[in-house]
Amino acid sequence: MTAFAFIYSLHVLAALVWVGGMFFAWMVLRPAAMKALEGPARLKLWVEVFQRFFVWVWVAVVILPISGVGLIQMRFTGFETAPRYVQIMMGLYLVMTALFIRIQTLQLPELRQAVLAEDWPAGAATLGRIRRLVGINLIVGLVLVAIASARPMF
Ligand code: HEM
Repeated sequence: MTAFAFIYSLHVLAALVWVGGMFFAWMVLRPAAMKALEGPARLKLWVEVFQRFFVWVWVAVVILPISGVGLIQMRFTGFETAPRYVQIMMGLYLVMTALFIRIQTLQLPELRQAVLAEDWPAGAATLGRIRRLVGINLIVGLVLVAIASARPMF
């Protein structure tokens, strides 16, 4: 395996873990939890899910730009000569990371606090806000992967 192939695989795997994880949470786990669990149990489940999933999101947040910049150097010699879809990728990465950091630093502690205090209405309101931001990030991530894959068009 060449260094380029290794870094490329790492890059795509990191994208897969982040975007695929959000897809699973939004499209599969969320409706299943709504159906199977009462409010308090559902909120407790999401605290546990986010805590575990966000460790992997941090790994992706670190790997994507490092491997991405490596790919730019190997394939396009520098930022100025990188094609438009790579510039879009970097911009959308910043959007996704900003939304993720917002959830991680503001909303997850709020959710954890509400669950500890057994304040279920406050927890449900916070979970609703997290759900909206994860939904936006999922759409941005899917668009990004579609753009990266349809690169001859950009
Ligand atoms: C600073 C952030 C990023 C940089 C610098 C970057 C850079 C790059 C570069 C240079 C390539 C290779 C392009 C080519 O060979 O033509 C690439 C491919 C790719 N990137 Fe990124 N990227 C970044 C973030 C992301 C993010 C956040 C995602 C998705 C969540 C992503 C998903 C992909 C995918 C799926 C490919 C493979 C496309 C294909 O071969 O069909 N990248 N990226």
